[in-house]
Amino acid sequence: MISDNFSLMIHGGAGALQHIRREGNESDFMQSMQRILEGGRQVLVSGGTALDAVEYCAVHLEDDPLYNAGRGSVLNEYGEVEMDAAIMDGQGLEAGAVAGITNVKNPIALARRVLEKSEHVMLIGKGAREFANLHNVEIMTDNYFVIDSRIRQWREAQKAGGMMLDHEDVTPQHKLGTIGAVARDGNGNLAAATSTGGIVNKRWGRVGDSPIVGAGVFADNETCAVSATGYGEQFQRTVLSKMVSDFVHFKGMDAQAAATAGINYLVDKVNGLGGVIVIDRNGHCGVGHSTSGMIYGAIELGGESLCHLA
Ligand code: GLY
Repeated sequence: MISDNFSLMIHGGAGALQHIRREGNESDFMQSMQRILEGGRQVLVSGGTALDAVEYCAVHLEDDPLYNAGRGSVLNEYGEVEMDAAIMDGQGLEAGAVAGITNVKNPIALARRVLEKSEHVMLIGKGAREFANLHNVEIMTDNYFVIDSRIRQWREAQKAGGMMLDHEDVTPQHKLGTIGAVARDGNGNLAAATSTGGIVNKRWGRVGDSPIVGAGVFADNETCAVSATGYGEQFQRTVLSKMVSDFVHFKGMDAQAAATAGINYLVDKVNGLGGVIVIDRNGHCGVGHSTSGMIYGAIELGGESLCHLA
């Protein structure tokens, strides 16, 4: 029987968020998060699984050009959108991931197809695109992805001759992109999803943490579901999402304690910058970030949806 003991969290990146307030689009983010969380609630109350809910939320975050994922992804050194995504089912630790993909409208939907329809965990580049065609995943033209604000940001990065980590600003404390979702359904199953355009002006086929199981995403029904955002290299080197799960497994922490411990570890080990959202096996929600701000929303154990841009 399906209970209403479901929980759902989403995030839209971490960083210093002053520029969002300065530009006056704080309410755009809040409305978008609220709408997506409530849509995710409907998926769960109508009997959808945790995996369905995180895919639903990630697809809608990817479709919204406010976020650095899907439409609205940042541009690489060639001025192209190249995306990474992963989804994980906490029941059986099944996972699907894609990296360095182009023109796929919803990388997270492709990642789910990898999970369900292939015997592999990760597909990349051209092969991933072929797999997408085989499974009728929606493909869009470059125009769909390349939006004006991203072109301006990319030109700035090219002028500065470096890579940038997020939406609008060169300084690292500004908002980091990447979206994600974690859920626990009424049957106690956990799932996590993370999707990103990566970092601005990225080179050489750079892939961040988002599609790496254990780094940018992790889910295990016995511990928790985690989605990360921040400097991908730091999350890869610390295997941060699995680390958060280990805090639950070995130290008996709940979601909030594990999120805090994970971020403390990230900072202690590599002076890392970013954040995590976490739901534990009991449906409790946690969040942690070493950046000054993070955009996230949560429904804990069927309660009201609360969004934060702090
Ligand atoms: N956290 C996203 C990335 O570094 O690509």
